[in-house]
Amino acid sequence: MEYKLAMKNELDTIELAQNIESEKFPNMVICLNGELGSGKTVFTKAFASAMEIKEIVTSPTFSIIKEYMGELPLYHMDVYRLDGRVDDIGIEEYFEKGGIVVIEWADMIKDLLPKERLEIKFIVTGENKRNLIIAPYGTKYEELCEAVL
Ligand SMILES: Nc1ncnc2c1ncn2[C@@H]1O[C@H](COP(=O)(O)OP(=O)(O)OP(=O)(O)O)[C@@H](O)[C@H]1O
Ligand SMILES: [Mg+2]
Repeated sequence: MEYKLAMKNELDTIELAQNIESEKFPNMVICLNGELGSGKTVFTKAFASAMEIKEIVTSPTFSIIKEYMGELPLYHMDVYRLDGRVDDIGIEEYFEKGGIVVIEWADMIKDLLPKERLEIKFIVTGENKRNLIIAPYGTKYEELCEAVL
């Protein structure tokens, strides 16, 4: 099952993130893929602010993982610069901490991802236009998609 959604501007992406956030649950894993500047961090920031995180969410490119406290903990990862050093940071632990995990460039750690997760691929189709391909893996994620997409 796969959903294809057309975002006609940044606000569409923000609203989508807010809608998905409204169905969040502990240990939810969201995997974001798509080229540089496609909107992965825009999505994450909107998700975080919907979770009542007041801190400014910045791209964690140089720290790999940033932790924020909101209605649940948010673990925001950007694994772009990890180049195979994945074992060093114990990523798998984060899938069971009871928070929300959002991973930018998740395809780079495909082997480590949990079987149940939400995949979102961002495709740039214009200056402000993006096509999103959303694929739920596992019943909880399928139900989430049915509820908000
Ligand atoms: N429909 C849209 N959805 C999301 N972002 C958009 C959209 N239209 C324009 N943008 C712009 O595209 C850029 C997306 O940047 P963002 O930092 O989210 O990309 P990214 O995918 O996280 O890149 P990186 O791989 O470098 O982390 C922002 O400048 C944002 O304003
Ligand atoms: Mg980013």
